[in-house]
Amino acid sequence: MTTIKGHKINLRPLDVADTAVLFSYRSLPEVYRYQQWLPESVADALSFIESYGFDRQAIRDRWNQFAVIETPSGQLIGDCGFCLCSEGEAEIGYTIMPTLQGRGHGTDCVKTLITFLFDQLPLHSIKAVTDPGNRPSISLLQRLAFTLTSLSPKATCIRGELCDDATYHLRRESWVGEGHSQTAS
Ligand SMILES: CC(C)(COP(=O)(O)OP(=O)(O)OC[C@H]1O[C@@H](n2cnc3c(N)ncnc32)[C@H](O)[C@@H]1OP(=O)(O)O)[C@@H](O)C(=O)NCCC(=O)NCCS
Repeated sequence: MTTIKGHKINLRPLDVADTAVLFSYRSLPEVYRYQQWLPESVADALSFIESYGFDRQAIRDRWNQFAVIETPSGQLIGDCGFCLCSEGEAEIGYTIMPTLQGRGHGTDCVKTLITFLFDQLPLHSIKAVTDPGNRPSISLLQRLAFTLTSLSPKATCIRGELCDDATYHLRRESWVGEGHSQTAS
């Protein structure tokens, strides 16, 4: 099984054994508030894992999801993923369970994912789309040298409400230029 080592977390493919924990945090309002997807049931969470779990190779035009594992506890604390939807570009998404937020795990997770993506794929940039009100997400992206490239009012419909999109990009040269390693540690 592919394991990508971060600092205090590792990324590995989501597994059906992760279903109950993934359901427990993804179904919390504070977690799904700014996200399109939420599991209505444990069966939804299982279907998500079976449909989108990363399995050795990136699949285009759909999400490829990893489990975020805290080290050394080995506990599942979140998930993250990427979608290869445009030539040379990957969009990323990330979630950490609320009880373990604010400790740098989100930043570590996204940093590890970016390093993996730039290492393994011929990408020129990585994109993240977030709600302009999602302070923790924006703070995380800015810390990792993403820059705001567009603001689109009422661009995404989330549970019947039209929400604004803030789109951020990180170009390969900025990542390397910031002194980040190109090799997953
Ligand atoms: C975005 C998210 C992954 C960040 O995870 P995290 O583990 O808290 O991330 P970090 O600890 O690395 O913190 C990232 C930044 O957010 C800040 N932060 C954390 N919790 C915060 C809160 N409740 N309010 C404001 N800022 C907060 C941290 O201080 C840090 O800011 P800094 O870089 O200025 O120091 C997490 O909040 C989350 O899962 N949110 C719900 C899902 C979601 O919205 N995902 C993004 C979809 S685009």
